[in-house]
Amino acid sequence: MAYKIAVIPGDGIGPEVIEAALHVIEPLIDAEFVEGEAGDECAEKHGDPLPEDTLELCHEADAILFGAAGETAADVIVRLRQELDLYANIRPVRGFPGLRELTGEPYVRDDVDFVIVRENTEGLYSGIEGRFRDTAYTLRIITEEGTRRIAEVACDLAEERGSNTVTCVHKANVMRETCGLFREVCKEVVESRGLEFEEYYVDAAAMFMITEPERFDVVVTPNMFGDILSDEAAALVGGLGLAPSGNVGDRHGLFEPVHGSAPDIAGKGIANPFATILSAVMMLEWLGEDEAAEAVREAVGEAIREGVVTPDLGGDKKTMEVAEFVREAALNR
Ligand code: NAI
Ligand code: MG
Repeated sequence: MAYKIAVIPGDGIGPEVIEAALHVIEPLIDAEFVEGEAGDECAEKHGDPLPEDTLELCHEADAILFGAAGETAADVIVRLRQELDLYANIRPVRGFPGLRELTGEPYVRDDVDFVIVRENTEGLYSGIEGRFRDTAYTLRIITEEGTRRIAEVACDLAEERGSNTVTCVHKANVMRETCGLFREVCKEVVESRGLEFEEYYVDAAAMFMITEPERFDVVVTPNMFGDILSDEAAALVGGLGLAPSGNVGDRHGLFEPVHGSAPDIAGKGIANPFATILSAVMMLEWLGEDEAAEAVREAVGEAIREGVVTPDLGGDKKTMEVAEFVREAALNR
């Protein structure tokens, strides 16, 4: 079956890393790639950062590959999450052998492998805020239904990974109602799926993620905790140039690098394409194209081992040179 994949390059390095990722996956999958406009440039041209026809394209596509938007990122990506009900934000944290040496960062870990499942639609990012005289407030909304569906996603992932534990990260000792409900529903779902329920308070989890990341396997957590912990975790495995993500719901999946449009390096052809290539790997897995996904992931590992990397990782290769290497390595598997 030929897939229809919506591709939204966006701004800055977005189009550069998308070109690289498409170069890698095109020969591996029977798909039609249809480009849609969104972001700053699109807003300038059409007066709207997320035009109706792009939205329509996303609705009818089998999957969406997104580059990065600039200043309009919130209008684009937050709106897409809502419109397509992409309630689970999945952030794999996976080291590659050789990365620590390449980056020269002592905190980089080659050996970690866990995944953070962040609730993407409610919690402290409910958008319900206000001011009353000299006081400002934000409402933290946690629903039973919202928690149930994110917990189910975490359990699905645990099963796929062959793990028997799901770890809930919360702060129910202080936020007794909101985190209390989150914890309670997660526990019920995880146990009903025959998996083991583990839990950490978020502050302790933040520490252990650095000192003993091997404690974690599948982590499920409310929106803001997940936002913060996943950036912390990204640093562990080489930083933004390597961090992929998936935004998924029951019907739609949107895959994007964690990084933004990087205006400081845009147009130079030196953006690290790995985050987007690995996001495409997640997309392939989500579509059920496991063999192609594994080939590309292995090929990225090979590029890192061989030092075929962009300047942010200490190399001297251009974006498309890295993509060419990964494409060939994936095809030769
Ligand atoms: P950023 O992620 O674009 O850049 C942060 C730093 O990391 C920069 O020094 C950049 O050069 C570097 N970097 C990022 N990706 C890289 C890559 N693939 N290879 C090599 N180096 C890389 O975040 P920043 O600077 O905070 O935001 C820039 C713009 O991106 C803003 O307009 C922001 O709104 C937007 N943004 C968009 C996002 C999205 O579309 N999902 C997410 C985050 C930011
Ligand atoms: Mg963030």
